[in-house]
Amino acid sequence: MAASSVFRPGLFNHKVAIVTGGGTGIGKAISAELLELGCTVVISSRKADRLNAAAQEMRKKIPSSSPADVTPVPCNIRNQEEVNALISSVLKKYGRIDYLVNNGGGQFSSPTEHIASKGWKAVIDTNLTGTFYCCKEVYTAWMKQHGGVIVNIIADMWKGFPGMAHTGAARAAVDNLTKSLAIEWASSGVRVNAVAPGTIFSKTAMENYKELGPHLFKRSIPFSPAKRLGVPEEFVFRCHTESCSVFLCPDHTSWPKAPPGENLDALEELLNPRSKL
Ligand code: ADE
Repeated sequence: MAASSVFRPGLFNHKVAIVTGGGTGIGKAISAELLELGCTVVISSRKADRLNAAAQEMRKKIPSSSPADVTPVPCNIRNQEEVNALISSVLKKYGRIDYLVNNGGGQFSSPTEHIASKGWKAVIDTNLTGTFYCCKEVYTAWMKQHGGVIVNIIADMWKGFPGMAHTGAARAAVDNLTKSLAIEWASSGVRVNAVAPGTIFSKTAMENYKELGPHLFKRSIPFSPAKRLGVPEEFVFRCHTESCSVFLCPDHTSWPKAPPGENLDALEELLNPRSKL
């Protein structure tokens, strides 16, 4: 069953968005939604090959009548010069930046006692400092004068994040940064918000955690009020008639039918209570 946006077609025609981490998982779902609504989307991440492939795939779905466009721009958000170059290249090519989605980030699973300084710094630099660089540059280079919207993707870390303390600390810091910026930049017409999802399953996330992936995802299911994992498409309110009816199942006796997509064979496997995982 084809999914459709709950928003008005053309809502974001002629708008320009940057989505960091836009080639995979949550960022890819957000980018696809923005594109469907007519937005021009610059997707960014460190891995050029994966980014180019994602852009090619997304471009195929843009109808010829739409002003939407997708451009991959590799950028390591830990590096301030690369972030500044990303923002200036977008302004040069498209002349505006209406939306910034700070979704690029990452972490690895480890008991805190085994997190080395290098790993700690890498996670803080990517999730916190990278977000700061992106916010600061998009504000000074464009939004301070023209307004805009920044959305920071964080995580459900409100009661700590055992097993991934580095990312819990970084995401909590981004939550606080979001609040400071929302107040500092409100008078420039810039809205800054954060979204903190529970565990969202994607193929890339599964691969990131390597052999621990199935265990990590499965372990989180009982902690979810809905007793299931989320999928990236839900992040943008995509409603799949078939799956929504199962999501609304009051006693949760049946597992959600995953929306169609590349990640979903593995998800079906993981969500199946009879799975051997
Ligand atoms: N996604 C994960 N790490 C990243 C980084 N350093 N830069 C951009 N996107 C990322």
